[in-house]
Amino acid sequence: MKDRILRKDISETFKKAINTEGLINNNDSAIIFYDIDFLNERVDSLKQLFPKNTIHAIAVKANPLIRILEEFRDANVGLETASLPELFIAEKLGFSSNKIVFDSPSKTTEEIEYALKLGAHLNADSFIELVRISKLYEATKSVSNIGIRINPQVGSGTIKSTSVADKISKFGIPIDEHRQEIIESFLKYKWLNGIHLHIGSQGISIMQLLDGLKKVYELVEEINSLLKIEGRQIVFFDIGGGFPVSYNFDESIPCLEEYIKMAKFNHPELFSGKYKLITEFGRYISANTAWAASRVEYVKSEANYKILSTHLGADFLLRKAYNPTDWHHEISVLDKNGNLKTGIDNKKYIIAGPLCFASDIIAKDIELPKVEQGDYIVIHDIGAYTLSMWSRYNSRQMPKVIGYKKNSFYTLKERESLEDLYNFWK
Ligand SMILES: Cc1ncc(COP(=O)(O)O)c(C=O)c1O
Repeated sequence: MKDRILRKDISETFKKAINTEGLINNNDSAIIFYDIDFLNERVDSLKQLFPKNTIHAIAVKANPLIRILEEFRDANVGLETASLPELFIAEKLGFSSNKIVFDSPSKTTEEIEYALKLGAHLNADSFIELVRISKLYEATKSVSNIGIRINPQVGSGTIKSTSVADKISKFGIPIDEHRQEIIESFLKYKWLNGIHLHIGSQGISIMQLLDGLKKVYELVEEINSLLKIEGRQIVFFDIGGGFPVSYNFDESIPCLEEYIKMAKFNHPELFSGKYKLITEFGRYISANTAWAASRVEYVKSEANYKILSTHLGADFLLRKAYNPTDWHHEISVLDKNGNLKTGIDNKKYIIAGPLCFASDIIAKDIELPKVEQGDYIVIHDIGAYTLSMWSRYNSRQMPKVIGYKKNSFYTLKERESLEDLYNFWK
């Protein structure tokens, strides 16, 4: 299976795209491209690694483009949702309710009721939420399966802002302090039949993922031995998402197969069909399957450096702009006809976005081939946590998103119109 989209393939695809009549016009100062075949390969790879009864609930927050969610639906996988609108999207798209997982640390009573009536799988984030669910569960005659989110407290990954299994975390019930209460909850609530953990997103090592799994698995086995007497079991084991991807071309690529092989070796029962596994991968599915092309509007040349004014900045790469040391994207340069530029200019570059604040910068002091006005900056591996985190600052229009499958193009999302933008603020 392919690991990433290569520079030369991007250049070829871009050439075809700009020569496809009616696809791109002059207003498209930035365009996002998704390789849909690659995306589907990623989904297939997931399905092949897990038992057949696994629910692969792909995280909507990573990439909520409706036409991509339709691909997931048609591939017979599910969705992880973390807000009422995400839940609504899943329902509206016709995902069957037993393939929809509803997480979120701040579910309102109304949201819980909505999810219970729908029959979605709910993961309670706290004991207080569990009490709230218990009041609604019978009243709604729900058929939902309900789990508890555990914080396995295996420590932070290399990126603090996306690590959620440290000693203190805003998510889940800390296992070390509340082990006994967790066990008692399962004894008390007869409908409780699931467990959930999620360690973080990017910056997490395979060893950390395995440590989290081990801690929670041991707890589940202990609880199941107690529930056996009552003829009940924890059936749903939600391992969360968080499998890291590679954003650096010279870095080794994390291997999902290796992680699953080790998890199977450690806990063969977990993969035997006895449990119904749930996964919630987002970044692994989408991040490497997309790239963005942003036109260079101006090149400002100074004595020792050049600044490129482009059309995607902190509105699109929010995490990168605010926390540049944690997030990296490879950059390529295409000329206006889509040819890949090579060589290194004699001055270093700053790539600036279009927004009105100083740190709207997506790369600093980088070496690039000589860039000219009208060229395109390609930002690699932008398929996850980019459009979904789009910032409305300066009211810039969200760019056009194009998908390609077997070399034919189609529009996944039109560029936001001025009218849409106006209505957003109305
Ligand atoms: C509960 C939960 N599940 C799944 C995910 C998806 O994580 P990733 O996209 O890294 O796989 C997230 C993202 O942070 C999350 O909070």
